[in-house]
Amino acid sequence: MTKPVTTITFSERKQVGEKIAMLTAYDFPTAQLIEASPIDAILVGDSVGMAVMGGRDTLSVTMDTMVHHTKMVTKAINTKLVVADLPFLSYQITAEEALHNAGRLVAEAGAHCVKLEGSAAQFGPAIEMILRAGIPVMGHIGLTPQSVHKFGGYRIQGRKEEDRKRLMEEAKGLQEIGCFAIVLECMPPDLAAEITQSLDIPTIGIGAGDQCDGQVLVLHDILGWGQTRFCKSFANVKESMAQAFNDYATEVKNGTFPAEEHTYS
Ligand code: KIV
Repeated sequence: MTKPVTTITFSERKQVGEKIAMLTAYDFPTAQLIEASPIDAILVGDSVGMAVMGGRDTLSVTMDTMVHHTKMVTKAINTKLVVADLPFLSYQITAEEALHNAGRLVAEAGAHCVKLEGSAAQFGPAIEMILRAGIPVMGHIGLTPQSVHKFGGYRIQGRKEEDRKRLMEEAKGLQEIGCFAIVLECMPPDLAAEITQSLDIPTIGIGAGDQCDGQVLVLHDILGWGQTRFCKSFANVKESMAQAFNDYATEVKNGTFPAEEHTYS
């Protein structure tokens, strides 16, 4: 029987230097494929707002949306760690609300842990309250998409010396408060490497070079559906689907579908 991946597995992987592969998913059939793959963990990201819902950013994603998609994913999962994103304004207002919302993702939707964007200096009380309730928290620093308007766009973070220092301090603060792992998004690879070497908890990179303890990517990007520059397309599903839609419509219109074998006798 396959041993389930847990937050403890994450920590063990860091100790032995074995990389962690993480991918976003938002629905049952995709999660079924991931369950059958060597991918270690699923992120039900608030990127659902862009990848699936057609939004320009992640800011309009609600708790109900996150619960809805996380439920679909967890129905298919037995052996992977499922991390669910706390969306914009679900943890920034009060620690009590943060715990209530993290609790919904775990109790209603079946997630194993939650991820939130920002530092312990910003959201320490919320993180502590969630952790006290027994819910593991993954941090996320660097380009945190919920702050896109503060950054003036989706820009690389940590180029200036003062920003490098701040990001290093943020990473250490998140480790100290008790996060089990941290996503490092869109930062110079040497900074991500330095942060990774300075921490005992694993770092999961996205657009942060190859020295992180693991990588996470958005599903649609690896399938050739997205446009993220730092992402590699591992398939061209977009083209395959467009071809299938075209062939189906053509066969319906010229009468070759349905054939006898597609028809009840
Ligand atoms: O929502 C998401 O998919 C994320 C990843 C980009 C890390 O937070």
